[in-house]
Amino acid sequence: MKHILLAGLFLMFSAVSVEEVDYGISRVARMEEDLALGESVYRENCVACHGEKGDGKGPQAYRLRTKPRDFTKGIYKFRSTPSGSLPLDKDVYRTITQGVRGTSMLAQLQLSEQSRWAVLQYVKTLSKRFTEEKPGQAVLFPPVPSPNAQLVAFGRSLYEEAGCAQCHGPSGKGNGPSAKDLKDDWGDPILPPDLTLKPFKSGSSQEDLYRTISTGLNGTPMPSYGDALTPKERWALVSYIFSIAIKEKPRGMMGLVGEEVEGMQIDMRAAMAGMMGGRGMMGRGGRMKDGNMRDMMKDMMGR
Ligand code: HEC
Ligand code: HEC
Repeated sequence: MKHILLAGLFLMFSAVSVEEVDYGISRVARMEEDLALGESVYRENCVACHGEKGDGKGPQAYRLRTKPRDFTKGIYKFRSTPSGSLPLDKDVYRTITQGVRGTSMLAQLQLSEQSRWAVLQYVKTLSKRFTEEKPGQAVLFPPVPSPNAQLVAFGRSLYEEAGCAQCHGPSGKGNGPSAKDLKDDWGDPILPPDLTLKPFKSGSSQEDLYRTISTGLNGTPMPSYGDALTPKERWALVSYIFSIAIKEKPRGMMGLVGEEVEGMQIDMRAAMAGMMGGRGMMGRGGRMKDGNMRDMMKDMMGR
């Protein structure tokens, strides 16, 4: 009886430990595979702008006004995490998938989901911050309040009180008294955007604006209001911005906005994939919330 029990225990423990070891090894192996794939994806698709070492000094960077991100610093603008924090993987994944509207950073729809995950893992290795720190807790999204005139009016008064007008201007046109002479953490001049014009950089949905206002944009003068304003106040600001963001940024060739034209000249693969609506004709590769590349396609075909 004793022997059977012991044998049973032995089996149990050995089974557990074998499983753990197996899991550990396969996980490490998978990570190494991901990083190898990620590195090759990076070399093929990102180096032209972000540079071999990820310092943002790729061979094409000189021609861009909005400079490609320097990944070595580990400073990320587009995050769901608190001000100063590292981003979550899904934040970086979202940026790679959607691109940054109005800049040369196009949606990377030529890449499969697996390649996008792999390249983001590789990009993280370019800054030692990711081995030293963990990202903070993501902001919570209370449900979007239904739009109403009262909320918009409340947002409009907060816009003044919270100091948004200081940079974004009294009516949101990006011409506040502090708008001039702003610089980002990389020493480049930066302008507060005209909030009356769509599309916005990191997505134009109410949730995208709520995230930006709550967490701020690291490395830029855009502060975070996650602590200073309640969720209701932040939603009110979103409602107000939605009420004034009724025009479109001027569109150039093929409906491209701002430096997307340069992006297209540099990043032919992403441009082609975008025109095809993602990977393949069915556009299964990405979810373009505001129809980014689909609009381009329509423009090309004459609507
Ligand atoms: C044609 C130039 C170009 C190419 C090619 C390009 N990027 Fe970018 N990328 C940019 C620019 C410019 C920005 C800065 C946008 C801004 O700050 O508003 C940027 C920003 C980013 C960000 C935003 C980080 C943050 O602050 O939150 C990520 C992530 C990123 N790029 C990843 C990639 C990856 C991965 C690839 C390749 C698969 C790639 N980029 C290819 C130009 C490019
Ligand atoms: C000190 C100046 C400053 C203040 C104050 C400020 N912003 Fe900004 N904001 C900026 C700058 C600069 C950017 C552009 C960052 C970039 O392009 O990378 C920005 C970006 C944004 C964006 C992102 C737009 C996009 O294209 O994605 C939103 C939304 C925004 N601000 C809303 C607000 C609101 C609402 C307030 C007040 C609660 C506010 N800002 C206060 C400077 C400021």
